[in-house]
Amino acid sequence: MTKEQFNDYVLISGSSNPELASKIGGILDKEVCFPVRQFADGEIKIDINVSLRGKDVFIIQSTAPPAVDKYYMETFFLASAARRTSAKDITAVLPYYGYSRQDKMHKQRSPIAAADVAQILVDRGVKRLLTIDLHSEQIQSSISDAWDNLYASSVLIPEIRNLKLGKIVVASPDKGGVERATTYQDMLEGEEDIAVVYKKRDPRSPNRSRITTMIGDVEDKDVLITDDIIDTGGTLMNAANLLKQKGARSVRAAITHGIFSKFEDRDPLMVLEHSAIETLFVTDTIRHRDEVLSHPKIKVVSVAPLFAEAIKRINYGESISELFRYTIPNEDTLPLYKEQYLDSPSHLRIH
Ligand code: R5P
Repeated sequence: MTKEQFNDYVLISGSSNPELASKIGGILDKEVCFPVRQFADGEIKIDINVSLRGKDVFIIQSTAPPAVDKYYMETFFLASAARRTSAKDITAVLPYYGYSRQDKMHKQRSPIAAADVAQILVDRGVKRLLTIDLHSEQIQSSISDAWDNLYASSVLIPEIRNLKLGKIVVASPDKGGVERATTYQDMLEGEEDIAVVYKKRDPRSPNRSRITTMIGDVEDKDVLITDDIIDTGGTLMNAANLLKQKGARSVRAAITHGIFSKFEDRDPLMVLEHSAIETLFVTDTIRHRDEVLSHPKIKVVSVAPLFAEAIKRINYGESISELFRYTIPNEDTLPLYKEQYLDSPSHLRIH
């Protein structure tokens, strides 16, 4: 049996990010099935026109704004349909994992929504989850099935290296991002110490935060802020302003998931344009509106090669740990994509 015949598999896309699903399919040279329709009353209708019996099914869906709940419902129905029609193993490929920030009981009587949605997925027949840059990895313990989490640093770091900035300081915009910032600092062989900005959330408003102080020396340094999510942009902009006040020569940012929510008449794209940030690298885990794609300071880098490689390896029963945190792509880890990754990382950019 050749590898190509090893396991027959089907790629199914929900409606949240068809461009990313198509890219993944293109890299794998595999047709993607788009079965989500809608009834006149708005209910979801699933219309799968290929046989799933005995096949590995990969459901690609970013459960992201603007319709997190609808995208979860689609995923539940797709998994359920696959299970009821005798699919072999069902993997939910969730490039953006909605509710990830509700990963603990933030107050009395609040749900742990990040765990609840994982449990529903498993309940609907999902055997494995595949995500990238989860807000908190501990949430993987909410299910006992396989949950592989990739790292966007694999595709973002080649872009940063390409800037040829020399020794940079990596800054975390809050205490929760210290481990990520340290990883970037190590992988980029930056200055000895990272910088950390202290952020305080307003307990009465989940989208409001302010910064109090920071540690680290950024004077005359090129600084890179790393984070998993940019939502309203408050965290990033506050951190960038403080770093600039503390004497940073330049400030850039690498953030995996770009939501860019407008909040109280504040458009993060406008704020970014007039901010101290020179360039913001984000990935395509979330489908971006045109204003994001054409923004002069935003560069979108695709995670499609990483997901394609992970899907291929899962299907072949090969290890995917090489695609984890400390990996910069090389010929061994991403053999099919050597040219894009190693010879010109900017080929991975969407624009
Ligand atoms: C929070 O801990 C996350 O890592 C992000 O920093 C946060 O979600 C960003 O949100 P916003 O852009 O609304 O400040």
